[in-house]
Amino acid sequence: MNPTAMLCLGIESTAHTVGAGVVDGRCNVLSNEMETYVPPEGGIHPREAANHHAERVVPVIRAAVEKAGARFSELELVAFSQGPGLGPCLRTGATAARSLAVSLGIPIIGVNHCIAHLEIGRGTTAARDPVLLYVSGGNTQVIAYMASRYRIFGETLDIGVGNLLDKFGRGMGLAFPAGPKIEKSAATNTDPYLPLPYSVKGMDISFSGILTAAEVKRREGAPASALCYSMQETVFAMLVEVTERAMAHAEKDEVLLGGGVAANSRLRQMLGRMAADRGAKMFVPASRLCVDNGAMIAWLGLLMHRSGVRMPLSKTKICQRFRTDEVEVAWRN
Ligand code: ATP
Ligand code: FE2
Repeated sequence: MNPTAMLCLGIESTAHTVGAGVVDGRCNVLSNEMETYVPPEGGIHPREAANHHAERVVPVIRAAVEKAGARFSELELVAFSQGPGLGPCLRTGATAARSLAVSLGIPIIGVNHCIAHLEIGRGTTAARDPVLLYVSGGNTQVIAYMASRYRIFGETLDIGVGNLLDKFGRGMGLAFPAGPKIEKSAATNTDPYLPLPYSVKGMDISFSGILTAAEVKRREGAPASALCYSMQETVFAMLVEVTERAMAHAEKDEVLLGGGVAANSRLRQMLGRMAADRGAKMFVPASRLCVDNGAMIAWLGLLMHRSGVRMPLSKTKICQRFRTDEVEVAWRN
């Protein structure tokens, strides 16, 4: 079999999004379909999101195969997000992946979701050995390759940065997802910066104090746009600082953005400036490959399969707290 022609279908279901994508062995993304569960109010309820995914996963898979111009019988591998993520959501995707693999008689591979964000960046941009700043709703990590593993150089000690923005936005009456609305409001701001706690602890960061402080300022009557602006400036500066230190420590001259918050132009601007100042380069994948999506899962599945990884069904259990550095990275040297 020609490994570059191999078609893999990847299934993503760690949190809000259920996605399926078909990718070939050259990282051509042939399709990348997704549907996102939006909670009626408040935060995400894992069981409700999982019910949504259970209803939508089959149509999303069918659409992915059809858009790829493929037939189910042409798929040679199924990959799925094994973790980290919300248990009920992960189980829905894993069940769909197992059923498909068994009914088609093809191999199955469970992949680490965070590593998939990094590999789709390496597969679709010119980045070769980047530090990844992975910023989404549930995750905030700075990851780079060192000695056969993807190591976490810094991470949030509490909530993910997207989650922080969504919670902060909810307090101001902004519907989920609040990140893009906060970005718009911040861009209109003409008021001075309102100081918020800047919380970098070693290589890690913490967001909960900022959320509390911003809510106090909001109740005291601070204008929404000044709050949005100050929130962005503070948390993005923290993220850029930790990323820069990771680049220096790991001696890397490329930085890659991933996760839903990568859509933010102010974050891109700040990170890009830091990279340029160090003589480094910044890379940002297409936005549908930055958010949670099935194509990145398919691509990592192909890389793992090609490096010899095989998973019997008994090894496809989900892993809610799947750590990035647990995976032996056999496909890089
Ligand atoms: P994960 O399971 O990886 O944690 P997720 O379910 O949070 O992922 P993503 O699609 O990666 O899904 O990211 C969604 C997050 O991105 C939301 O918190 C949303 O507010 C945030 N976001 C989207 N666009 C922007 C933007 N322009 N600025 C800031 N945040 C944004
Ligand atoms: Fe993600």
